[in-house]
Amino acid sequence: MKIAVLPGDGIGPEIVAEAVKVLNALELNFEMETAPVGGAAYEADGHPLPESTLKLAMESDAVLFGAVGDWKYDTLDRPLRPEQAILGLRKHMGLFANFRPAICYKELVDASSLKPELISGLDILIIRELTGDIYFGQPRGRRVATDGHFPGAEEAFDTMRYSKPEIERIAHVAFQAAQKRSKRVTSVDKANVLETFQFWKDVVTEVGKQYPDVALDHMYVDNAAMQLVKEPKRFDVVVTGNMFGDILSDEASMLTGSIGMLPSASLNSKGQGLYEPSHGSAPDIAGKGIANPLATILSAAMMLRFSLNQEAAAQKIEAAVQKVLADGLRTADIYSAGTTKVTTREMGDAVVAALAAV
Ligand code: IPM
Ligand code: MN
Repeated sequence: MKIAVLPGDGIGPEIVAEAVKVLNALELNFEMETAPVGGAAYEADGHPLPESTLKLAMESDAVLFGAVGDWKYDTLDRPLRPEQAILGLRKHMGLFANFRPAICYKELVDASSLKPELISGLDILIIRELTGDIYFGQPRGRRVATDGHFPGAEEAFDTMRYSKPEIERIAHVAFQAAQKRSKRVTSVDKANVLETFQFWKDVVTEVGKQYPDVALDHMYVDNAAMQLVKEPKRFDVVVTGNMFGDILSDEASMLTGSIGMLPSASLNSKGQGLYEPSHGSAPDIAGKGIANPLATILSAAMMLRFSLNQEAAAQKIEAAVQKVLADGLRTADIYSAGTTKVTTREMGDAVVAALAAV
């Protein structure tokens, strides 16, 4: 089994180093190969996703990804910006199914900005379609308007589109995930305004007929955004498009206390996956040794589960993470009075030590 390790920018290298440490401690003899990606790759090779990095990712069983991006690249042409690396990997590897769990660990109930009773026991799985929608729809660009409110003015445009098979396959993923959980799916759309999402709703409803054991409901995205903070535990599996999923998963992450806790998996139909923390590169705290490595460590657990067929090892990592939280260890983002503040590296070391104890 081969793992491509792509640390990227900002805190990426620090947090990925801790996840690699945890993987090595399992002694499963994976082959791991590191390659540059994002701004780091642009600096080294002039491109955020060099051919050699893409090739390594494509021929690996799984990719462990840190984060990309830094404000200093904001003025580069879009194709050269760090974000293009992750978008390119998603596109070229066909990683259409993005799993973003939002779990509130009981030790962190007080770290959330919401009342404890609203979030204690929270366990939501957001399934975001990742290779379609307005993110990838063509055409897009800039031009001079020939109609609209200001003909003759400069304008920019993107295209929101979904094909039936694209919606069908993500709907199947969601229903099958729900069958292993509480058998409820909420499909989030904007069918009251957008044709793309009326179609989404129709197709998801159709696919749902093949899963009579799963209860399906539909919610407009604006209402879903509100319900997530009003009554988050009403959700179990949430399935939605690329852009709504981007926004709602950030929102859901804050219910859990810190975005520094949330892993993610992006899967294709061949069983390959890219695993990354749900958070970004946080250039403001890069190099300070204070970033929370747990989201990346938990992403490594998802990688063991979904792409490397190592369920026992995945559970071991998850139990070790719970143990360090129960032991009161906290990085700065989840620190509260009465707990012990640790660095990125100390947190990684603690998880490794806990592996032996679980
Ligand atoms: C995410 C990120 C990316 C996205 C960016 C970095 C392109 O926000 O993974 O959620 O918008 O998908
Ligand atoms: Mn995002």
